[in-house]
Amino acid sequence: MSQDIQILAIESSCDETAASVVVNGREVLSNVISSQIDIHTLYGGVVPEIASRKHVERINQVVREALKDADRTLDDMDAIAVTYGPGLVGPLLIGVSEAKALSFATGKPLIGVHHIEGHISANYIADRTLEPPFACLVVSGGHTHLVLVEDYGVYRILGRTQDDAAGEAFDKVAREIGLGYPGGPKIDKVSKDGDPHAIEFPRGKVTGSRYDFSFSGMKSSVLNYLNTCRMKGIEISVPDVAASFQQAVVDVLVSHAMWAVEEYHLDKFALAGGVASNTALRAAMKAGCEERGVRFYCPPPILCTDNAAMIGCAGYYDYIRGERSGLDLNAKPGLRLGEK
Ligand code: KG4
Ligand code: ZN
Repeated sequence: MSQDIQILAIESSCDETAASVVVNGREVLSNVISSQIDIHTLYGGVVPEIASRKHVERINQVVREALKDADRTLDDMDAIAVTYGPGLVGPLLIGVSEAKALSFATGKPLIGVHHIEGHISANYIADRTLEPPFACLVVSGGHTHLVLVEDYGVYRILGRTQDDAAGEAFDKVAREIGLGYPGGPKIDKVSKDGDPHAIEFPRGKVTGSRYDFSFSGMKSSVLNYLNTCRMKGIEISVPDVAASFQQAVVDVLVSHAMWAVEEYHLDKFALAGGVASNTALRAAMKAGCEERGVRFYCPPPILCTDNAAMIGCAGYYDYIRGERSGLDLNAKPGLRLGEK
């Protein structure tokens, strides 16, 4: 009999309905992602009620497809893992209800997974040799965390954003310069035609932990710049504004990451979350790590943005530690990293 642990994972914390089958935490047999971006684009951002409704419509099909792509049945699964927070409460509840129903019907154990732990774990899939300890910068639409991963499931948060998340700042600036939603990938693309040093936007300053971040001031200075140009009739170069804003965000993220590398004498550094797909951030982080002899890890874009494979990976390490959730598992929209 095979000793492999096969996990069916479900993710629905925002606007992606996703399911995946993962073997022994690191081997992805299927990774089905049904994105709702087209619908939310019409409204300029994620509308939670619409997201919930779309998850309900799609989740059964997505789970079925994930099993089919993996050439497995529910019977083959050892456990059902699901994101239960943080995220939007309605969307989270759809995934949690689906996973509870599958667990109840099959008698398979249920494992509630932390969404950010999932993002970090995407690195274990991308590089099967990666083991803790390492540092990870988690940058997504909802989160900006600089974390020391001391062991599987053991995290020490060095810094977090005090206001907007990095991805949120990308999305808001993109909207202001007319690029639409989701802004991150569009700023990334248009920046390639711009000068990152055309406009010197201030790098966000914070009080408190030197590892904390602040992006709302940076976003406001972009808005002020745009208003001033409009008032004075100065022509706005969208590629220059995008590239200069992106450079400011990247500078702050990389400098904080490198302080951590130096203070904690780290030899491994990982990126995670949707913004980790950003080409300027990846390049700058890689260069910073190489200069200091630090090994740099970054998942491919498909594992950076929301997906269920990363949840299956995190769920596997919870599973082998003996962690199980009851059928009373509830969505926890404000769940913090390290919290149950
Ligand atoms: O991790 P994710 O899919 O969802 C959350 O958990 O938030 O991240 C989505 C965020 C969005 O804000 C999106 O604009 C940003 O990631 N993003 C990017 C890029 N691709 C996605 N930001 C900058 N550059 C990119 N290439
Ligand atoms: Zn996410």
